[in-house]
Amino acid sequence: MRAHPGLRPTWAEVDLRALRRNLRAFRARMGAGVKTLFVVKADAYGHGAAACAGAAQASGLCDWLGVSSVDEGAALREKGVRLPILVLGSLYPFESFAVAARYGMTATVASLSAARSLAKVARRRGRRISCHLKIETGMGRIGMRPPAAAQAAEHLERACPGALGGLYTHLSCSEESPSYTRRQLAEFSRAVSAVSARACRPLLRHAAASSAALRYPESRWDMARPGLAVYGLYPGFEPVLTLKTRVVFMKTVPKGTAVGYGASYRTKRRSRLATLPVGYADGFLRALSNKGGVLVRGRHCPVVGKISMDMATVDVTRVLGARVGDEAVLFGRQGAQEISIPSAAALAGAIAYEIPCGLTARVPRIYLS
Ligand SMILES: Cc1ncc(COP(=O)(O)O)c(C=O)c1O
Repeated sequence: MRAHPGLRPTWAEVDLRALRRNLRAFRARMGAGVKTLFVVKADAYGHGAAACAGAAQASGLCDWLGVSSVDEGAALREKGVRLPILVLGSLYPFESFAVAARYGMTATVASLSAARSLAKVARRRGRRISCHLKIETGMGRIGMRPPAAAQAAEHLERACPGALGGLYTHLSCSEESPSYTRRQLAEFSRAVSAVSARACRPLLRHAAASSAALRYPESRWDMARPGLAVYGLYPGFEPVLTLKTRVVFMKTVPKGTAVGYGASYRTKRRSRLATLPVGYADGFLRALSNKGGVLVRGRHCPVVGKISMDMATVDVTRVLGARVGDEAVLFGRQGAQEISIPSAAALAGAIAYEIPCGLTARVPRIYLS
């Protein structure tokens, strides 16, 4: 069986078995009583939202899914995903509350005016709309400070009883600053007290993405919201995505041969060069030009010259027997070697999230399950 559906031999393998193992390992680290909301926004960070959400649902290891917009959530519902879905973005236009309700999603209410609009839309449409309040504790993005959150809760309880199901915040410095994180958590505690006093039932309280959940047990509250860890992009978890291509052209060139746009590289000796059908239009970051590498026959081969839109050149001089058709791993493992996404991102001056999110639609995703 061919490893890719198209004729262009560049593809991403997404190992749903590894994803399930990561979910299981993450849950085990959280302990009993902490639910898991798996973040599948941005097409599951480029891994493919329908497949990843479907695998998470089938595993029974996931309680909620998180998406960034009503559109993303609706697409999952249309693919048969039944798990509770929280829309993490601030909903606007406010009419999208009605669409969220129609698809059985939980909306984020990030302002008092959003709370009023949600109540209005619910009344007008005669629908029950569920929501979580977003608390601003230091991210400086969307959300309400505790006093406004208390007002929003009061309004929702009066105008739309039963709609309010939870409240949450997002931590901005869990990797960088324990003191900042603790201040955010303290502010969230204040919001929890203020909002809970206005609600007549227990609310789902959550604050932590992968890093905070793993580093600060006190940030877990009732639910953690991992993305990075489940995709295996956080230390201690198994990589899920491997980006592969094949050598399509080879040549031997003399010392001093210029390679690629701008002739930014010249061979230092007689060299064997291989051309790969992958470029920045696939998501192979141009910033890896003359810096990154790929694995061919289990050996690390440096990228030489600028990565262009659809092609990249690597030096395979030291790879015995390299030839056209050989598989090349851009990100992932081959034999005993690995080019991890976080390490490649660091080399490119990027963050790990950017690499899978940047893989474009022309790269087929092959699911291993
Ligand atoms: C609100 C929210 N929660 C959770 C996450 C998941 O973060 P991570 O992938 O670092 O686990 C994100 C990701 O950006 C987010 O925006």
